Amino acid sequence: MDAAQAGQAGSAGAALPSFELEVSAVQVINPLIRAFHLRRPGGADLPGFEAGAHVKVAVRLPDGRSDWRQYSLINFSTDPAATRSPQAYCIAVREEASGRGGSAFMHRQVKVGDRLQVQAPDNDFALQAHPGTVVLLAGGIGVTPLISMAATALAQARPVRMAYAGRSLGLLAYREPLQALLGDRLHCHGDAEAGRLFDVAGFLATCQAQDHLYVCGPQAMLDQVLACARSAGWNESRIHFELFSAPAVQEGDHAFELVLLQSGKTLTVPPDKSILDCMLEAGLDPMFDCKRGECGVCAAPVFEGEPDHRDYVLSAAEKKANQVIQTCVSRCKGTRLVLDI
Ligand code: FES
Repeated sequence: MDAAQAGQAGSAGAALPSFELEVSAVQVINPLIRAFHLRRPGGADLPGFEAGAHVKVAVRLPDGRSDWRQYSLINFSTDPAATRSPQAYCIAVREEASGRGGSAFMHRQVKVGDRLQVQAPDNDFALQAHPGTVVLLAGGIGVTPLISMAATALAQARPVRMAYAGRSLGLLAYREPLQALLGDRLHCHGDAEAGRLFDVAGFLATCQAQDHLYVCGPQAMLDQVLACARSAGWNESRIHFELFSAPAVQEGDHAFELVLLQSGKTLTVPPDKSILDCMLEAGLDPMFDCKRGECGVCAAPVFEGEPDHRDYVLSAAEKKANQVIQTCVSRCKGTRLVLDI
């Protein structure tokens, strides 16, 4: 989404068609990251996609339930045919030790020859038409959609450059092929080698007035980029972003009572679960899509209680008004929240 779109609550997303794909290859990219290549069992072409697109893959969780996980499609080729009628999709999955089990399923159970249910590509993070340079900023595994953007920008002969940051250079997935693709337009930063964190404010200061910034990384990086850009007076329509992971539990998160007026249910939301997940587990059928506070689909009207807003959808004024809450990420500041659903 674009930073300037924050505040426009999303509408319901239509379910995309899904199909069964075969795992044709599994690559160990580094100790934390594996890539999966997915093809049609008969080998026919797959639906095309554009840079920034993702697919959703059905994963099996430790409690036996199925859920969808969203993974960006990786493309290094500057040949438009590679994404117009692809033979295979490539996704990369980082195993999250404290995750809910989707990445562990992909790492520990999925092997070559297995079949996975996959939704057709969708794109909430498309490359925009604009003057100036396409500036890409990747944090960790957030590099995956930006690889495809770099390839597309090069194919379109647009000016492009990328900064790619992580805890160490050795853990930066796809660093070498990216170097081959972008040459000196790629700057890699490892905290361990540099002895400091990546300088977000300094990087933003190198951008020109017409450049657009595309950011994908962890929440802390995104929050820092948005804060630095705002204090430097950036027009937010020039910032496009996607989070690559579900928001983590924050220090001080506590359980609270959730009352759902229209369905007549009262639930307890523990510190490590979202309002949305609690509603799903209670057998309700709420609308949702991204589960990362970006799309707006899970918005619910607040009847009583003070929300702890953690989304990137509502504007500052909407957050202050406390009339709506994004149930996939936001919580309650007090002990009781009543929603009119
Ligand atoms: S904001 Fe996308 S599902 Fe909640």
